Amino acid sequence: MISSMVTLVFIAALMAATYYASEAAATSKGSFEDNFSIMWSENHFTTSEDGQIWFLSLDKETGCGFQTKQRYRFGWFSMKLKLVGGDSAGVVTAYYMCTENGAGPTRDELDFEFLGNRTGQPYLIQTNIYKNGTGNREMRHMLWFDPTQDYHTYSILWNNHQIVFFVDRVPIRVFKNNGKANDFFPNEKPMYLFSSIWNADEWATRGGLEKTDWKKAPFVSSYKDFSVDGCQWEDPYPECVSTTTKNWWDQYDAWHLSDSQKLDHAWVLRNLVIYDYCKDTERFPTLPVECSLSPWD
Ligand SMILES: *[C@@H]1O[C@H](CO)[C@@H](O)[C@H](O)[C@H]1NC(C)=O
Ligand SMILES: *[C@@H]1O[C@H](CO)[C@@H](O)[C@H](O)[C@H]1NC(C)=O
Ligand SMILES: *[C@@H]1O[C@H](CO)[C@@H](O)[C@H](O)[C@H]1NC(C)=O
Repeated sequence: MISSMVTLVFIAALMAATYYASEAAATSKGSFEDNFSIMWSENHFTTSEDGQIWFLSLDKETGCGFQTKQRYRFGWFSMKLKLVGGDSAGVVTAYYMCTENGAGPTRDELDFEFLGNRTGQPYLIQTNIYKNGTGNREMRHMLWFDPTQDYHTYSILWNNHQIVFFVDRVPIRVFKNNGKANDFFPNEKPMYLFSSIWNADEWATRGGLEKTDWKKAPFVSSYKDFSVDGCQWEDPYPECVSTTTKNWWDQYDAWHLSDSQKLDHAWVLRNLVIYDYCKDTERFPTLPVECSLSPWD
C-alpha cells in the first residue's frame, strides 16, 4: 500500500504538470461576489483578508452554503477544500453541481460529500449522481491523506461520454454514458456549482448513532482556487452543445481515462472503495443498467 501510494503521488504530480495544462488560465482570482452568491446565513460566511480563501461555518443554529451565479453544461470544475478537523462526526460538507437551487423532484446532480468523523477516525468521501430527481448511486471511498490538514483539489470532469470525480487529479470514480436516451446519465440540463456545510447526524454517522458534539462548534470548512474550464450556459439559447468538440473537455481524449489515469483508477478500486451501489445486490436485486458499463472503455 505504501509503495503504491508513493508511485501514485508521483504519477499524480506528473499528471498535474501535463494533463490539464489549460486549467491555470481559468482559475478565478476575482472576488467571491463575481462568481458566487450565498444561499443562506450570510453571517456564517467569511473570507481571508485578501478575499481569496472562503470559510463556511456550522453551529447549533445553522450551517451555510454558496452557489455559482452561472450555470454550466460540460467542462472541468475544480476547487481546493480543507475540511473541518478534530471531532466533526455528524458534520457534512457537500460540494456538488446541481441543476437547481433546491432538492426539486426533477433535478440532476453530481455530489461530493465529506462525512466528518470522531477525532482520529478517517473521513470518508461519498459521491452520488442524480438524474431527474432520482439518486441512489452512492459510492464511498477512503482517502489516502487527511483532508483536514491541508487543501486538496476536488474536481469533476463532465462531458456527454463520462463523468469523472477526481481527488488531487486521481480519478476515484468514473460514470459512463451508454448513449441510450432515458438511461441514467445527466447530460441535458446545465448545472450550478454549490458548497454547503450542514448537520447530518441523523444519517451520516452509522445511521445516526453518534451525535454532533456542539461543544466543538463552530465547524469550519475552507475553500480556495475555484476554477472552471467549461461552457457557460446562456439562456435562452443552449450554447453548450458537446457535439461541436470545439472544447478539450468534449474531445475524444476526454471521453475516457488516459493510460496513466487508468493505472491510478485501478489502484483506487483495489484499495479505497468502501461502498459501491453497483455491488449491492441486496439493495438492488436487479442492478441499475449503468452498472454494466466499464470504466476502462
Ligand atoms: C466569473 O465572473 C466574471 C465576472 O462576472 C465573469 O467574467 C467570468 O466569466 C465568471 N467565471 C466563471 C467561471 O463563471
Ligand atoms: C469513521 O471511521 C470509522 C473507522 O474508524 C469508519 O468505520 C466509519 O465509517 C467512519 N464514519 C464516517 C461517517 O465516515
Ligand atoms: C422526470 O420525472 C418526472 C416526475 O418526477 C416525470 O414526470 C418526468 O416524465 C421525468 N422526465 C423524464 C425525461 O424522464
